[in-house]
Amino acid sequence: MPLKFLVSAGPTREYIDPVRFLSNPSSGKMGFAVAKEAVKRGYECVLVSGPVNLRPPKGCRFIPVVSAEDMYQAIKKEFARCDVLIMTAAVSDFKPAKKLKQKEHKIAEKSILELVRTKDILKSLSPDKGKRIVIGFAAETNDLEASGKRKLFVKGLDLIVANDVSKPLAGFAVGKLNATFLYPKKEKERLGLISKISVARKLIDFAEREAENK
Ligand code: CTP
Repeated sequence: MPLKFLVSAGPTREYIDPVRFLSNPSSGKMGFAVAKEAVKRGYECVLVSGPVNLRPPKGCRFIPVVSAEDMYQAIKKEFARCDVLIMTAAVSDFKPAKKLKQKEHKIAEKSILELVRTKDILKSLSPDKGKRIVIGFAAETNDLEASGKRKLFVKGLDLIVANDVSKPLAGFAVGKLNATFLYPKKEKERLGLISKISVARKLIDFAEREAENK
């Protein structure tokens, strides 16, 4: 079956003023590897990414975004036409309550920044998933499997890749993950230290198998 993949990657940026933002060190490598593998297997792929220093793989449609809200809007629009959504993006959970129009100067000795929640993209889309296959990621420093399981159910996922980032080799912006695949009904799979391209291949294999069985 010619599957259509929708993949998110990278960090988001939540601007405080025109020159400062809240973000995280996500490199985008995981999502770009998934998009590359999907295209290599002949599938259509849309890649939605926050700001990263990577060239989008040839053959996929690339949608660059900046904030969590931009990412939500882009994913929401493309979701209807996809068969598989893979959210590797490290989406900011909070954004400044207001973005200042001008650069803030350091006049005060102390400053308090009010933050408000961003939209949970997976949680808001999964009630309408129908037959779509939806995969998420969870980078955790503690209680890896319990947190992964909670997110799996809260976000209505078919698979979550729980990544233990407490170890130096599997943190953000490095080449490997310390991965455990968690499923709603099947036994977990502990993969240990594994390259991003190997994870990408396993995710596409999973999507292919699930699509056959749906
Ligand atoms: N995610 C999302 N929308 C958000 C935040 C996260 O869709 N606003 C997705 C991520 O792309 C990832 C999954 O949800 O696939 C888990 O992200 P994570 O940051 O680990 O979890 P949170 O929802 O932020 O939960 P918590 O704050 O409890 O860690």
